[in-house]
Amino acid sequence: MEEREREREMPQFEKNTVHIRDPERVEQIICSLIKGGASKLQIITDFDMTLTRFAVNGKRCPTCHNVIDNCKLVTEECRKKLLKLKETYYPIEIDPHLTMEEKYPFMVEWYFNSHTLLVEQRLQQDKLPEVVRESDVCLREGYEQFFDRLQQHTVPVFIFSAGLGDVLEEVIRQAGVYHPNIKVVSNFMDFDEKGILKGFKGELIHIYNKHDGALRNTEYFKQLKDNGNIILLGDSLGDLNMADGVPNVETILKIGYLNDKVEEWLEKYMDSYDIVLVRDETLEVPNSILQKIL
Ligand code: TMP
Ligand code: MG
Repeated sequence: MEEREREREMPQFEKNTVHIRDPERVEQIICSLIKGGASKLQIITDFDMTLTRFAVNGKRCPTCHNVIDNCKLVTEECRKKLLKLKETYYPIEIDPHLTMEEKYPFMVEWYFNSHTLLVEQRLQQDKLPEVVRESDVCLREGYEQFFDRLQQHTVPVFIFSAGLGDVLEEVIRQAGVYHPNIKVVSNFMDFDEKGILKGFKGELIHIYNKHDGALRNTEYFKQLKDNGNIILLGDSLGDLNMADGVPNVETILKIGYLNDKVEEWLEKYMDSYDIVLVRDETLEVPNSILQKIL
């Protein structure tokens, strides 16, 4: 397709946030997705900093964990410790000089320490809706259109998050987009009979073991055996493994949000994701693609 024709077809791709290594390939992938239509499509997406905003007017937005870190249920002393953990481990998470393998043990350590502190706080389950309501967590612009269109066409959406499932579900519920076509796989809190946090259910999902989590969900993906066309959305290189449990991938389009340390990461992200969205706080590009397919 001629450059000008492409521009006309997808004006959203002309935004300066959009970076594509191989436009011809992306075009071919999108053509296959359009051909397959709604019945062959499924979405596999990360949550924190992919469906939620990284920043508003330069101010960082919280992850699911940060919603709890900053809430009134947590003591000042605990908040300081959680902040210290973030200051220690977040720079490792985004360090361009370390491989995923090198980061892996640090991420496990982060989750272990952070979840231990949360359990010590004996959080109350029934306070979570209020905590989420009072937080600064914010879905990306265009989220209503994104979720509503997928629901209208009954496209399965798998939200696969190393965040906190209880917070995540509350965020999408309060936003009015927790539709029946959504399945959430994340770290869910385990409460005692009085509704006090006593631990976490199942295997831990952290930033770099999404491969293992994906394989634990092969039953879900087997049920979707006709949905071989995938749009994957992520913000971390660990998110690229989210589709590892899909037995029948026909076409996959990987869209990656690059939020932080942009200069250092851009090349690597462009090698790994088909479309890279740099400091793009919207779902405009995914929505424009969905509009073509559905
Ligand atoms: P995601 O898989 O939905 O993106 O969620 C994982 C994010 O949560 C990841 O970017 C790291 C972040 N995180 C915190 O913000 N605080 C914490 O205490 C932990 C363990 C993770
Ligand atoms: Mg994320």
